[in-house]
Amino acid sequence: MEPQKQKTEVKIYTIHSQKGGVGKTSVALAKAGWVALKEDKKTLIIDGDITGTSLVDIFSKEKNNVRYLNELLLSDPLVFRQYKKEPERVGSDFCIPIAKHKKIFFMPSSSIFEDLKIIVALISQEERLHFFRSRMRDILELLAQNNFETLIIDTPPGLYGMSQAMREIKFNEIEKYKFKKHSIFVTSPDRPDYRALFSTLSQIYVAINKEVREEWLKANSILFNKFSAAGSRNPAFKLTEILSDLKSLQEKRKVDEKILDKLKDTASLAEEFDIEQILETVNHLINSPESREHPTPFQKWCLEIEKI
Ligand SMILES: Nc1ncnc2c1ncn2[C@@H]1O[C@H](COP(=O)(O)OP(=O)(O)O)[C@@H](O)[C@H]1O
Ligand SMILES: [Mg+2]
Repeated sequence: MEPQKQKTEVKIYTIHSQKGGVGKTSVALAKAGWVALKEDKKTLIIDGDITGTSLVDIFSKEKNNVRYLNELLLSDPLVFRQYKKEPERVGSDFCIPIAKHKKIFFMPSSSIFEDLKIIVALISQEERLHFFRSRMRDILELLAQNNFETLIIDTPPGLYGMSQAMREIKFNEIEKYKFKKHSIFVTSPDRPDYRALFSTLSQIYVAINKEVREEWLKANSILFNKFSAAGSRNPAFKLTEILSDLKSLQEKRKVDEKILDKLKDTASLAEEFDIEQILETVNHLINSPESREHPTPFQKWCLEIEKI
């Protein structure tokens, strides 16, 4: 019998939220910083927030001929087949290296109004989501063939549509790669936001098979973000308040106990910060370990993201 070939593991983080502006893109960047700069893994940030991208302004500003995720998602099957024949073209044409940080690359999505109009109309149609799910899976497999070891996908706000398609991607057990998925759900401490998130997560949780629930809990994290921005002086106190509010919701809307337990994962207590400083700050924390001893609030926030 042939010896079993060692599979290459590819880690995928998908980042989700109910509302916009809660910190998804910040989390995507910080996570990319930790895996690429500390674990030395070739990492790609995929800007899947096709409804309201912000990364393109940061990383593609000096670049001409930018090609977008939109094109890969929407291309005709015949055109897409060419990429399957020459996977390296996906790496060379669509993945922009972030010059200052080796090992981190970025795949932009388009913020051009005409492009937005087309894709938003399509992803809003329930019956098209299976198409996006399988196309996205094909894209991720092509990226694995470009030797990316970690793929971080920033998704649009709202847990349905594109966000759902990204969460539900199933991989072919292709010979060489083993994909391992982790989803991070970001919420603000605003009541309607976290309540909606916990209700939705509970529904997802109870709908899955009992045998795989433990595994599901391990593969999903919840992050409360922007406490200070919400005006809370004492985030620890605020967290206790949120927990008791969710307990009352538990009775009404059947939020599962195990989902409430996930609150423990959480809490990020930063002052306002500049998203463009995230990679620099993570890099600094890695290269000057003494800065971990008395971190600023922003550095503390970055350290929280290392753990999830
Ligand atoms: N924990 C935090 N504390 C303070 N400001 C934050 C925090 N997280 C994100 N921000 C800021 O909030 C704004 C929106 O964050 P962003 O990551 O773009 O959110 P999203 O991708 O969910 O729309 C950015 O200006 C970012 O710098
Ligand atoms: Mg964003």
